Amino acid sequence: MSQPAITGTGVFTPSQVITNDELVVAFNAYADRWNAENADAIAAGDLEAKAHSSSDFILAASGIEQRYVLDKTGVLDPEVMHPWLRARSDEEPGVMAEMGVTACREALDMAGVAAVDVDLVICAASNHERAYPAVAIEIQQLLGCGGFAFDMNVACSSATFGIQAAADMIRSGSIRRALVVNPEICSAHLEWRDRDCHFIFGDVCTAVLIEREEDAQRPHFTIRSTRCATQFSNNIRNNNGFLRRTRKGQMDDRRDMQFMQNGRKVFKEVLPLVSAHIAAHMAEDGVTSADLSRLWLHQANKTMNDYIGRKVLGRDPEPGEQPNILQDYANTSSAGSIIAFAKHSADMGDGQMGLICSFGAGYSVGSVIVERRV
Ligand code: COA
Repeated sequence: MSQPAITGTGVFTPSQVITNDELVVAFNAYADRWNAENADAIAAGDLEAKAHSSSDFILAASGIEQRYVLDKTGVLDPEVMHPWLRARSDEEPGVMAEMGVTACREALDMAGVAAVDVDLVICAASNHERAYPAVAIEIQQLLGCGGFAFDMNVACSSATFGIQAAADMIRSGSIRRALVVNPEICSAHLEWRDRDCHFIFGDVCTAVLIEREEDAQRPHFTIRSTRCATQFSNNIRNNNGFLRRTRKGQMDDRRDMQFMQNGRKVFKEVLPLVSAHIAAHMAEDGVTSADLSRLWLHQANKTMNDYIGRKVLGRDPEPGEQPNILQDYANTSSAGSIIAFAKHSADMGDGQMGLICSFGAGYSVGSVIVERRV
């Protein structure tokens, strides 16, 4: 059996930023317009007026300060409140493929590997811009990779589940090298008109290159072990899909066709699930909290991450032990823990261990224990 290792990482970050203040100005303008348009119904008690959002609330409730997006003009226009992403012809690269190629090239360059030597591309993300052909196959073709490619979706855990799938194929010998790429266009499935969640998400794309350790040419991370688990829940749900009927006028009325969550319940139910999952994974791998130098956690909420960090380490994490990126990127679904890993791992010394963990809709939780080799 071959030992898999992460030898390269890449992050594509969109050039446009929306700060909390910009977001709140746009939301409040939208709410004021909506309240004015519906003044009679509100006065009659048939509709509830929309309350203002607040930057202070967003920072305190989530730890998010800003988010990157592919298009801010539409999102910040009170008459639009969604990104304007130009429909592309079939002859042009798709948006997800384009983001994916950039992140993958960075991962390949870091490892010193040519695309032609990659024999699996997994595009693992919360949403895919089309049903088929797979976005992963388009990325495979644009990069010039060999082998095969497929899409997978495990919502916020897509990246870790993809890493487990690729690592297991390397262990079994069916492939030699894999790119696991996570283009997350969260801005297009977020309901920016919903005060409870309009601040949550941002856009990004991450990629990891996984190789047989014996092929690694540069410092890398051995994948010691991976664990995935799921448990059905409706508390994070998006009902959009191919059975959706687009009778005229129906689209805007169906709130459930965008991201929906019962945030409080998610908080309460996911925290114990994740803590128990990580504890069991570490025990099975013979790893104790004293062995872990770093935690790269899913990036949804700072309070949640602080809680998990304390549970896993049995104490408050030291600065740098549990790096957060959500203050800059917001929640980027499956990509969050990989951004943290990509940006906060190069300084680690030989033999130091860390844990990547994602969690989210499904519910789903995926963890990867890695060990630095320099
Ligand atoms: N601005 C100002 N006030 C707001 C607000 C906003 N944008 N959104 C909500 N509020 C208010 C609510 O109306 C409520 O007021 P009330 O107490 O008078 O009723 C209060 O703030 C608390 O709202 P609540 O939704 O309970 O906030 P919260 O503290 O639970 O934080 C989340 C909300 C979403 C940040 C938090 O629940 C969370 O992060 N949950 C987990 C999310 C997660 O991991 N999801 C996975 C997605 S992949």
